[in-house]
This record gives sequence, structure tokens and C-alpha cells, in this order.
Amino acid sequence: ELPSTFDEPIDLAIIGGTGLYNLACLKPVAVLPPMQTPWGLTSSPITISVVIGGANKFTVAFVSRHGVDHEYPPTKVPFRANMAAIKRLQAKAVLSFSAVGSLQEHIKPRDFVLPQQLIDRTKGIRASSYFNEVGLVGHVGFGNPFSKSFADFIYQFKDVLENQDAPEQPCLMHYDPETTVVCMEGPQFSTRAESKMYKMFGGDIINMSVIPEAKLARELELPYQMVCMSTDYDAWRDHEEAVTVNAVFGHLANNGRNANALAARIIQEMAKEIPEFMKTGDGLTGTAKMSIATKKD
Ligand code: ADE
Repeated sequence: ELPSTFDEPIDLAIIGGTGLYNLACLKPVAVLPPMQTPWGLTSSPITISVVIGGANKFTVAFVSRHGVDHEYPPTKVPFRANMAAIKRLQAKAVLSFSAVGSLQEHIKPRDFVLPQQLIDRTKGIRASSYFNEVGLVGHVGFGNPFSKSFADFIYQFKDVLENQDAPEQPCLMHYDPETTVVCMEGPQFSTRAESKMYKMFGGDIINMSVIPEAKLARELELPYQMVCMSTDYDAWRDHEEAVTVNAVFGHLANNGRNANALAARIIQEMAKEIPEFMKTGDGLTGTAKMSIATKKD
């Protein structure tokens, strides 16, 4: 019954990952059907919500990365379509959620992590650029793949995280300039040997989705921050207690609740006052244009 069009520019785009297929904190005002782009259809309908905060009207678009019924595995997600749709809706920043494995003892299941670095271990089979089309060569800077301004903003709200089943063991939010996410192709998880290698590389967490999302966001000059939600210790612990399906479901459910609480707070605060980096483009405006290397005559 909701309208299927929305004509105003949106402020924030949110991408939900495994275990996060909608945001209960939002009251949708429109649901756009999966959007057709030159790079195909988006992975899900796009849900538009409006939040009133202070003098501002703040608009949020939500996309489900793996589809509403989790039908797209990481290798098959139409990343370029999703990010192009977000850009077309005129988002000022992208908040992305992802389930991850932990490569560090101190990052426990149910903890959240704001990575600032990444290591691409995908197999080169994902379409990862808008620039590799005929006649156009572009090389955008990617030394800092995430938005520090956005991460700083999110980290203020670290206290919203709760551990539903064990309130005495709080869920932490980990954030420092070196925190590194490894992105692997999947869909199989890593071997123990690979998992140990990723630790030696300097990886803190591992997922299958940050590539090419972060690369495409950079090409589109969109400030991008991923919020990683730990579900497991990957394979590096030799004496790992047996992982039970129930435990992972419990972690996913707790992570989903915390993602909702965190997103609600972020949106509420942004609606009160739009952060500077969203007004100014976080230093990215014009960078893609300046990265075109095709010879012009
Ligand atoms: N997503 C959640 N846990 C993961 C793991 N251990 N490896 C890769 N992706 C993951």
C-alpha cells in the first residue's frame, strides 16, 4: 500500500547484511521496487523512511545486500547496481552492516568492529569498478578505504550495544586506525592454515562482502563505513569449542538487535544535526573525476 516512488534526495543509505534484512526502527514512507540500473537490478527493493529531528527532515534508504530472502551469495550480489542506485538517490553517506568472523581473541562473537583498513582476498571474479568499461580508465585513491569521520561519528554511540542473554558480559565496539578487515571470496569459510595466514597479514576480522562495496563507494565519491558484527572465531583456534548452530543464531539475533539500536541512534543524531562530513562530502568530492587516466586529445 506504500507508494513505489519517492522524488526527494535521500540523506543516508543503509546496506543490511546477513541477519539484517530490514530496520525495525524505521517507518517506511515508500518502497521502491528493485531498481533497474545500467549494471542490472538492485538486490532488493529500496525502503525509504523519513525521520523528523529538530528542524530537519532526514531521509534514509535501506537496501538488503543478499536480497530479502537471502537469495544472492556474496559472489553474486549485484554490488554495482546497489551502489549506483544509492548514488542516484543522492545519498550523502553509506552505512553498511556485515556479519564477520573474528581473527583476534579480544574480538568476541557479538562484538562490533569499525574497520579502517582492508585486505582484498577476493578472486577477481566480482565486477569491482565502474571505470573498467571500454574507453575509460580510472584509478581512484584507496589508501584509506573507509570514512574516518563517519567511524568517529558512529563510535560515539558504542554504549547502545547490549548482550541480551548475558548483560554482565557487555558487547564491545572495537575501533582504531589499524583495524583491518580481510575480504575473501567464499562461499566456503577459510581453512585453518588460511585463517592463521590472515592473522599474520594483520587481519582482525574477515567477511565476504566489503569488496567491491568499498571500492565502488570510493569511485562514486560516497563516504562509506562498514559496521562489522562478529558471529564466530573463524578457523584459527586449534582447540575451538564445537560451534553450534544455536550459538551462531543467537549471535546473529543479538547482532541484529544491536544493529537496529545503533542505526536508530545514528539516524536520530544525524536528523538533529547533519554531520559535517555529509555536508562537505568528506574530502571525496571531485576525486573520481581527477582519477581518469584515459588520454584526451
Ligand atoms: N562471515 C561471518 N563469519 C565469517 C567467517 N568466519 N569468514 C568469512 N566470512 C564470515
